[in-house]
Amino acid sequence: MAVVFLVVLAGVVYSVVRFRSRGQTTAEPRQIFGSPKLEVLWTVLPVLIVTGLFIVTVRAMVLIDAPQDAVHPPDLVVIAHQWWWEARYPNGVVVPWDIHIRTSRRLLVRVESADVIHDFWVPQLARKMDAVPGRQSFIWLQADTPGIYTGTCSEFCGAQHSWMRFRVIAQPQASFETWLDNEARTTIDDVPAPPERFFREKGCATCHTVVARQPSSGKGPSLAHLASRETLGGGISRNTPDNLMLWLTDPQLAKPGNRMPNTPLTVEERRALLMYLESLR
Ligand code: CUA
Repeated sequence: MAVVFLVVLAGVVYSVVRFRSRGQTTAEPRQIFGSPKLEVLWTVLPVLIVTGLFIVTVRAMVLIDAPQDAVHPPDLVVIAHQWWWEARYPNGVVVPWDIHIRTSRRLLVRVESADVIHDFWVPQLARKMDAVPGRQSFIWLQADTPGIYTGTCSEFCGAQHSWMRFRVIAQPQASFETWLDNEARTTIDDVPAPPERFFREKGCATCHTVVARQPSSGKGPSLAHLASRETLGGGISRNTPDNLMLWLTDPQLAKPGNRMPNTPLTVEERRALLMYLESLR
């Protein structure tokens, strides 16, 4: 822009000085109407430039865009909900919030929505991809450096759109596989037992699972390893016992508008549930 500005400015200054009225004559200067050569030039040249940019853009799009034809099985399925994320791995492991991936490999991710339009976005790793209800979209995801990358929803999707965060945890292949195997091995028997029945009886299990390898209901996020998570409710609060207690006491106060109904529980029942949830590491 600076170059164009300077070229135009130089032309204007030159013309003002070179063709200024010198006071000798009051007659109009010579009038020129049209120049076929110039007009062809300034029509053809921009057409060539735009065509060149079009070709370069299409080539870049083909390189960057994942194939949208669902021929290849995806490495990861990401499902957006109001207002949380869920990732499903080919081996059946389902995780909310923390999405683990292996580094230095281009992963094909299928993005879906369970309700309204959301948008999957990890600014440091990939471009955005809309999650559209009833539609499967595909995106490449690749992290070359191990680390934790913050992701967020990037399409307004309701009252708590801003609290629909997630994390992508990129690990070298060996530690990623250890993690995935470990998740896959966890069964309902490995999960602490005492208030587990109570967890079911009170209806929590209608929406939530506590085991990573268990089909989720789609109504509420899996609570597997809940105690190891850094935040609650898509990032709205830190994962402290007090904040977790608020979810058990008044979910609508914890995150207004979310789908979790109030469950009538006594103080003792809430304490027992809190202890149970804090044991899910
Ligand atoms: Cu989901 Cu915004």
